[in-house]
Amino acid sequence: MLIQTITPNATYEFAADVRTGLTKPGQKELLSKYLYDDVGSALFEVISRLPQYGLTRADERLLRRHAHGIVERLATPVSVAELGSGSGQKTRHILEALCRRQRTTYYPIEISASALAMCERELSDIESISILGFEREYLDGLLEVAAQRKTDQRLLVLFLGSTIGNFDRSAGIEFLAEVRRILLPGDWLLLGTDLEKSSVQLLAAYNDELGVTAAFNLNLLARINRELDADFDLAQFEHVAKINHEARSVEMHLRSLRPQTVHIPAADLRVEFLEGETIWTESSHKYSPEEVFSMASVAGFRCEAQWIDEQWPFAENLLVAE
Ligand code: AVJ
Repeated sequence: MLIQTITPNATYEFAADVRTGLTKPGQKELLSKYLYDDVGSALFEVISRLPQYGLTRADERLLRRHAHGIVERLATPVSVAELGSGSGQKTRHILEALCRRQRTTYYPIEISASALAMCERELSDIESISILGFEREYLDGLLEVAAQRKTDQRLLVLFLGSTIGNFDRSAGIEFLAEVRRILLPGDWLLLGTDLEKSSVQLLAAYNDELGVTAAFNLNLLARINRELDADFDLAQFEHVAKINHEARSVEMHLRSLRPQTVHIPAADLRVEFLEGETIWTESSHKYSPEEVFSMASVAGFRCEAQWIDEQWPFAENLLVAE
């Protein structure tokens, strides 16, 4: 078991992306992947335990209940690659079911080093498993995994937790198509998608009364202060969650409470904010069960099976590369 840690120029890229996002004409934005440093990943773990945020529990429930049914449909030998492993907790069910049938290599691909370490600790006790983690962006990591495969080896890619919802709809399909290009016909993609639900339910989930989601969102500014020497005054920004009915998504923003100027020396940047102006930090798109079939098909997959949680509408979709 080995964790490869190669992150060239991470700070430089972060600075460049912050610069691009905060100098955009019109709506300022920051990329949601930067929410997940060590602090952000830990805060997301707390979010996933909040009673109002049912997404992670629904995902885990489905994987626990249907692990056997999912694994049964796969031809072996198969290796497992996961895009964004997080803590690895919900992946355990699939890996245990698979390891009962064959020795399994599991490749978690994660941009957060601490999440990678957590997932390795969580899963290394499973019998007949080898874990090889990649601290990489999803597609870079997946390319490396694909390059290591032996000729008769199939690949099962896990993309759980409705992380796909962070892309807008067309970028989501494009991402699936890019994954498909790295795979071979007959490989699988297990895709978790959060389904549409009421605005009341969504706002409670993304604007929890304890303020954990607010802290998760504001941590992005704190991270820019820590890593790029910026002087964001966190008390002068507030977390906002709103429904975008047209996009069928929940958006997270950070709203400036007064006119202010922020300096970000490591990005060589001075940014002005108007009172009430927002930085868009994340979108979380919601899907209909049928929509997933058509997204899959446009991207070059066929949906082999779909399992839905009734308690918190969420779907696990087993796609096969055509
Ligand atoms: C981990 C991207 C699925 O969009 O629901 C949770 C992140 N943001 N609360 C989501 C998140 C605010 C989460 N994903």
